[in-house]
Amino acid sequence: MRQRGSQDTPELTRRQRWDKFRGDSRATMAGLPRAFGLVWGAHRGFTVSLALFAVVGGVIPAATAWVSKLLINAVVAAAARGGGPEWVRWVLVLVAAQFGLYLAGSLLQTLQTITQQALQELTGDRVQLTIMEHANRLDLAFFENPKFYDTLQEAQREASQRPLGMVQQVFSIARSLITFLSMIALMARLGWVVAAVALVAPVPSFIANSRYGWRGYWLARRQSSDRRRMIYFADLLTKDTYNKEIKLFGLGGHFIDRWKVIADRFYREHLALLTHRSLMGFLWGSLTTVVSSGTFLYVALQAIARRLTLGDLTLYTQAVSGVQSSFQGILGGFSSLYEGGLYLNNLFEFLDYEPAIRDRPDAVPLPRPLRAGIEFRNVSFTYPGKDTPALRGVSFSVGLDETLALVGQNGAGKTTIVKLLTRLYDPDEGEIFLGGRDIREYDLASLRQAVGVIFQDYVTYFFSASENIGVGRLADIADLAQVEAAAEKSGAAKAARRR
Ligand SMILES: Nc1ncnc2c1ncn2[C@@H]1O[C@H](COP(=O)(O)OP(=O)(O)OP(=O)(O)O)[C@@H](O)[C@H]1O
Ligand SMILES: [Mg+2]
Repeated sequence: MRQRGSQDTPELTRRQRWDKFRGDSRATMAGLPRAFGLVWGAHRGFTVSLALFAVVGGVIPAATAWVSKLLINAVVAAAARGGGPEWVRWVLVLVAAQFGLYLAGSLLQTLQTITQQALQELTGDRVQLTIMEHANRLDLAFFENPKFYDTLQEAQREASQRPLGMVQQVFSIARSLITFLSMIALMARLGWVVAAVALVAPVPSFIANSRYGWRGYWLARRQSSDRRRMIYFADLLTKDTYNKEIKLFGLGGHFIDRWKVIADRFYREHLALLTHRSLMGFLWGSLTTVVSSGTFLYVALQAIARRLTLGDLTLYTQAVSGVQSSFQGILGGFSSLYEGGLYLNNLFEFLDYEPAIRDRPDAVPLPRPLRAGIEFRNVSFTYPGKDTPALRGVSFSVGLDETLALVGQNGAGKTTIVKLLTRLYDPDEGEIFLGGRDIREYDLASLRQAVGVIFQDYVTYFFSASENIGVGRLADIADLAQVEAAAEKSGAAKAARRR
């Protein structure tokens, strides 16, 4: 990755990276309540259940370790005393307790899986809905700006999984914390030095992990415009709209080749990151294994010297691995939280974008019938990101009973006039009057309803013919008589009959 041009993946100094990490962590924490809000809004009961499962699940490992210790000691004592009904009964009770714990553990796991999946689906739908509703509010300019469009795509791709992922991560950190504390309480008797060593071992792996998470995020972010291009190439080759040109100009192979180049680069970049990340994870993880083996040896020697019982040995073995795995769970949880937060910020970035074109608080409905026509007064407009204006000082008027045809070269600005009249954009300078008032004084819905537009790149919806006509005026879509009348008047009916 490093050798590739990394214009968007800045090679930062350690200091800058740390500042960036801190900034992103703060952003993650800021995003957390919003992620909670989304999940909570999807289903309260399921959210509470997941929290409860986490708490109960956190206690089980320590309880299991404790029961194992009692059981081993009971068995050893019973064997030493040559059996006896009261010892057998005690062993029976402990086995039953152990069985109960296992059963509870796996039941909990099952319930958690069900709840999680259900909540995932609900949250995914809710996020998708939020995205669609917000996109529905945004200006056309947003969709024509590649940067914002990438944010939208990224939000859409990642955001259905991430909010619940973040919340679950918090619960899993809580569960690990409970396990960790209860295990450390059991382990305290082993001696604090060993406990401390077991604690410190996973820290480097946490740092390595979060660093690679950061890189993965930047990679994904940089790739998002390439990803958009890939989707576009796939669209070109699989959608009816493009097929005739693609055939005629023989473009298919060319587009496929361009797709392949990007796909191949993706593969190499991902593989490099994955290999790095996994190998580093393995190396730091080995450190943990060395520590836990050392600890085990220490306790085993203590047991041989009879300073500890056989039950203690079992307890400590389980406690050591419990402490380490839960500590790793806590740190790993934070690093996933951090990574998830980076992705989720795309969603919030997108949701925070506010449309510039919207109703004024004192907006009035467009009066019908109109009492005055259209007037452009010295209107100028430049598309965002362009240097040359599409319209410069345009003035004209159309009376109520006049018909006007605009004729001009490609790119002269004819469509732009219609876009301004329908307030898909607002002019940079000048005013547009309709019915005697500036069109910005009308509410958008009534203004747009009054204008019928067929753009050059009009849309044919994959619905029935009558629905395609009906979407022209949604209020009457079910009124078949009106739809048929419109079809007759426009000649669409004749065309449909010929088919
Ligand atoms: N979404 C856009 N973003 C940036 N520039 C645009 C956009 N749409 C149009 N333009 C530019 O604005 C100018 C006017 O375009 P417009 O579409 O209004 O022309 P037109 O007269 O309708 O042309 P045609 O006869 O091809 O339909 C052109 O230079 C065009 O490239
Ligand atoms: Mg045009």
